[in-house]
Amino acid sequence: MTAAASTVREAVQSRLSVRAFLPDPVPPDIIRQVLEDAARAPSGGNLQPWHVDVLAGGTLARFKALMQARLAPDAEPEAPAYDVYPPHLPSPWRERRFGVGEDMYALLGIPREDKPARRRWFANNFAFFGAPLALMCSVDRRMGPPQWSDLGMFLQTVMLLLRERGLDSCAQECWAFYPQTVGRFLGWPDERMIFCGMAIGRRDPEHPVNRLRSERAPLDEWLRFHD
Ligand SMILES: Cc1cc2nc3c(=O)[nH]c(=O)nc-3n(C[C@H](O)[C@H](O)[C@H](O)COP(=O)(O)O)c2cc1C
Repeated sequence: MTAAASTVREAVQSRLSVRAFLPDPVPPDIIRQVLEDAARAPSGGNLQPWHVDVLAGGTLARFKALMQARLAPDAEPEAPAYDVYPPHLPSPWRERRFGVGEDMYALLGIPREDKPARRRWFANNFAFFGAPLALMCSVDRRMGPPQWSDLGMFLQTVMLLLRERGLDSCAQECWAFYPQTVGRFLGWPDERMIFCGMAIGRRDPEHPVNRLRSERAPLDEWLRFHD
């Protein structure tokens, strides 16, 4: 097990997107407590615009089986819920996005030319990278960018609190590509839309993908002090 974080800084520093999990189950009461604590996250006007569905056990297994069918080559694609990135992502964001992808595939030993192997790896997203528990975070369609930023604050709080429990996570926007499958399975009303999923469990310390320490831009690329 990876050491649990005992300070906020340790939680921030030890959080990373884990993309290979051990099968050990995550006790539901821990997740309930983490979510209750995370709901102390601030939100503009205290709207608390997040909705969360937790999938584990037999429900998670049924959902993963459904997704296997949805990923079949002859399955109809769905209209994505939103653009995960702006079209024609400009510099420097484009380089950052491709940089982290290349670093990940280098650790996995999958070269750029091997598109089928890269696609197969990406499909692990839809099995939550083997995590024993998953969340789906959704929001009312009438909510705008300020409320979406509230979702981000809530979800980061969840991920940090998980570190305090020795647990790991990976936020997953890839679920925006299957909004109908997710919404129907979870019985969401029409006005609800997906933001992202989250795989949760204990990291597999042996898996090379979990050695990825994503880069960060130097401070002076995005920070200005005015004094
Ligand atoms: C909202 C959100 C959605 C994400 N979606 C995915 C995803 O679908 N699949 C994936 O492998 N990683 C996903 N990530 C992980 C990012 O790629 C990752 O946070 C980034 O590369 C920085 O790496 P780190 O989380 O390890 O620090 C997502 C992260 C966030 C915050």
